[in-house]
Amino acid sequence: MTIRSIGYAFIESTDPQKWLSYGTEVLGMMNSSWREHDENIYLRIDERPFRFVITPGERDRLQLIGFEAYDADDFNKTVDALGSQGVEFVKGSAEERRLRGVRDLVRFDDPAGNTVELYYGAELDYSKFVSPTGVSAFVTGLNGSHGFGHAVLPAPNLEETHQFYRDVLGLGDTDYMNFKFGDDPEDPGLGLYFMHVENPRHHSLALFGGESPLGCIHLMLEVSTVDEVGECLGRVVDREIPITSTLGRHTNDRMLSFYMMTPAGFPLEYGCDGMQMDWENYTPTTTTTPSLWGHKFSL
Ligand SMILES: [Fe+2]
Repeated sequence: MTIRSIGYAFIESTDPQKWLSYGTEVLGMMNSSWREHDENIYLRIDERPFRFVITPGERDRLQLIGFEAYDADDFNKTVDALGSQGVEFVKGSAEERRLRGVRDLVRFDDPAGNTVELYYGAELDYSKFVSPTGVSAFVTGLNGSHGFGHAVLPAPNLEETHQFYRDVLGLGDTDYMNFKFGDDPEDPGLGLYFMHVENPRHHSLALFGGESPLGCIHLMLEVSTVDEVGECLGRVVDREIPITSTLGRHTNDRMLSFYMMTPAGFPLEYGCDGMQMDWENYTPTTTTTPSLWGHKFSL
């Protein structure tokens, strides 16, 4: 498997300052001094200089996610696979490489139209992560090698998009779920593929068989303790940020989490206790219910 993690997300914002206060004061991310002189806001959660890049723009939406390849060989192999499948991609410019602090990158759209980057050789500056809200550590592995968390992306053409991630980018299947938002027995539901890369996170990417004009179903950040989840929930309640799902524990990755609205208009899942998997002896599952308890979705 050539892809090691989901490394970063770029989020376009009509009001980046709103993201800055949300990211630092609610989520507990650090305002990173990375590339201080440009107009973007860089939010940090670990040894990596940034994980979320907030770019000023005319819309509020997820712009793109970045996948980290193991090394130059794996990066080139995956770029070759894109080429041989006729996937159009653009090579990152010197300025784009500098801005991200990576050795090389390409950008392309998946079959559902989600923009994705592939990169390798991300810089580490080893400055200490100090959360403004006292989060001890986000769960991201040694040197952040397990990525920032996970992203769930819209894919109305679910099967085609799933096949692309599996066969071209080389992600592995973890779980399939037929997701229903309510109790209606007539509701056929929508499919949801949970996929992993080469790290123990249960899923780094999930694909949902529905639309989202915001380019994102949700992003997830994982903290180390249930207290840190509860403390964040307190900050969310204090600020009257809409809670889009109550606290609960998911079935497939055992994540204990709640979901809240972000300034982009898509939710963010904030949790702990996500399972650390051994892929060598793993068989993909089909799950019929999203949560062991809780997770009452309201939006
Ligand atoms: Fe999630």
